[in-house]
Amino acid sequence: MEENSVSQARAEAVAAAMDEIREIEAELGVTRAGVEAIRDRLVELSSQRELFPLTDFPTPDDSVNENSFMYRLAQDTDDRFALYAQASSGHVETPPHNHTTWAVVVGFDGQELNRFYERTDEGGVAEVDHHLVESGTGVAMLPDDLHSIHIDGTALNFHCYGLALERLDGREYYDSDNGEWKIFKSTSGIREGRTNLQGC
Ligand SMILES: [Fe+2]
Repeated sequence: MEENSVSQARAEAVAAAMDEIREIEAELGVTRAGVEAIRDRLVELSSQRELFPLTDFPTPDDSVNENSFMYRLAQDTDDRFALYAQASSGHVETPPHNHTTWAVVVGFDGQELNRFYERTDEGGVAEVDHHLVESGTGVAMLPDDLHSIHIDGTALNFHCYGLALERLDGREYYDSDNGEWKIFKSTSGIREGRTNLQGC
């Protein structure tokens, strides 16, 4: 496919997936079954590999002080139903955190280790599960679920949230060095990845 037709086909496939994801949330609500159905729909989207050439989602180079970029692929006008492609290079990890909205991670290229936690009676976290997200697999989380991500090497993964990252100003993370829960600061590194923003 030519470049323009790839981006056009990608925009249409993303829009179709997000239409169905809105319907899934409306029908099943923010439930385990709902977020797992959303994950499965995004795995289906990611299987259309020709729509997501890695060259369309470059990883950060040495000129920036970041190891990953988030390319926005979809977001409603009210900031709900946000989809990003995260392009990473090198070592990327987060502390255990929640999202305050539902969240789904689906693999495309490379590997992203997801660790899952429960809060302990002492106010910390204990790992209870993990999943290696790679092509064809994904994880789904409810708003209070806790995870951390760990990437080494290059990776491209899809991250989808019930509300855009810039609006998630109450996400908690566990600072294990100090044994404290803290609030994630605003998200940086988000780049516009939509190609058909008519009038926006
Ligand atoms: Fe997360």
